[in-house]
Amino acid sequence: MSSYPARAVVDLAAIRANVETLAARAPSAQVMAVVKADGYGHGLVPSARAALAGGASWLGAAHVSEALALRAAGLDARILTWLYAPGAPLAEAVAADVDVSVSAPWALDEVVAGARQVGRTARVHLKVDTGLGRSGSMPSEFPALLDAALRAEASGEVRVVGIWSHFAWADAPQHPTVRAQAEVFAAMVGLAESRGARLEVRHLANSAATLTNPAVHYDLVRPGIAVYGLSPMPDLADAAELGLVPAMTLEAELALVKRVPAGQGVAYGHLYTTAAETMLGLVPLGYADGIPRHASERGPVLVGDRRLTVAGRICMDQFVLDLGPEARESAGDRVVLFGPGTAGEPTAEDWARASGTIGYEIVTRIGARVPRVYVGTE
Ligand SMILES: Cc1ncc(COP(=O)(O)O)c(C=O)c1O
Repeated sequence: MSSYPARAVVDLAAIRANVETLAARAPSAQVMAVVKADGYGHGLVPSARAALAGGASWLGAAHVSEALALRAAGLDARILTWLYAPGAPLAEAVAADVDVSVSAPWALDEVVAGARQVGRTARVHLKVDTGLGRSGSMPSEFPALLDAALRAEASGEVRVVGIWSHFAWADAPQHPTVRAQAEVFAAMVGLAESRGARLEVRHLANSAATLTNPAVHYDLVRPGIAVYGLSPMPDLADAAELGLVPAMTLEAELALVKRVPAGQGVAYGHLYTTAAETMLGLVPLGYADGIPRHASERGPVLVGDRRLTVAGRICMDQFVLDLGPEARESAGDRVVLFGPGTAGEPTAEDWARASGTIGYEIVTRIGARVPRVYVGTE
């Protein structure tokens, strides 16, 4: 184990089991495990391998560099990349047998150029903006993009294998945009097929839609957060209720325990002041490690069998706990910030609530300097 006084322990068996659960919820579809952003902070390649072991057959990567890293690691699943600007290494992606999303005419032109450069047919997924208002071609412009892609298919430069889109509000399954987006998607798929597209995969569902909306599973579902065991809709159902197991446990060793008098201000700005003589414990994790400063005075931790709250400001590399006057802890004792929640420890969702954000942000922001330790390998 590294000498670093903290670590993110990632349970690969949990990732595997979560993908099995998701696959069972979408029995008619293939599963693309979304592993962008370093596997949502859990580690790109180990997470991808665990997801494939759980039954995923596709991997989703936002950036081309992530897709290429997956291929370089020897993963032979289908890989889709979707977020790039002009000048991206698309020839390299095509050469590495990576599927590429196309949202605009310039992107199609660059994919065609990349395919010509490496002498291969590029597999493309045309992305339609069905209402998210983010990436994807607007429905009014989609027919022209589709026709251009089908012309490039006729000349052998690309193969249009997919049409896809992304929801704005899948975490509120009754929200009217869910149905509206699904209708636009169905219309665009119908249009593509009527113009001769021979689609292999139509895909729309993220984690929330995979879990709540079988009507939009189509041929492929694209869960991300649920792969890592967090609920995509914590206001409706927690991870356990969805049969998911949070895969990351963030823990540290106390770096110092010391007695201080009553009236001792704690950390920058003295947000917290001891009411009586007490023992302070120093946790060597801070905002440079991704611990949200917004959770100052609110973030929950488990020390031994006690739930405590961050005392004072979260600093760059550390924060403080008031262990109480009778504390028996000493330097080196384990502190758990979050984990699956099954042994009394808080969850990433608890930290999200304490800092006014979502569980996604809590796990993805854990800093690169925090070592990832993998357990649950076979
Ligand atoms: C295009 C796309 N598909 C799927 C996902 C997975 O979403 P979730 O993590 O909510 O399952 C994401 C993540 O934001 C995404 O950007």
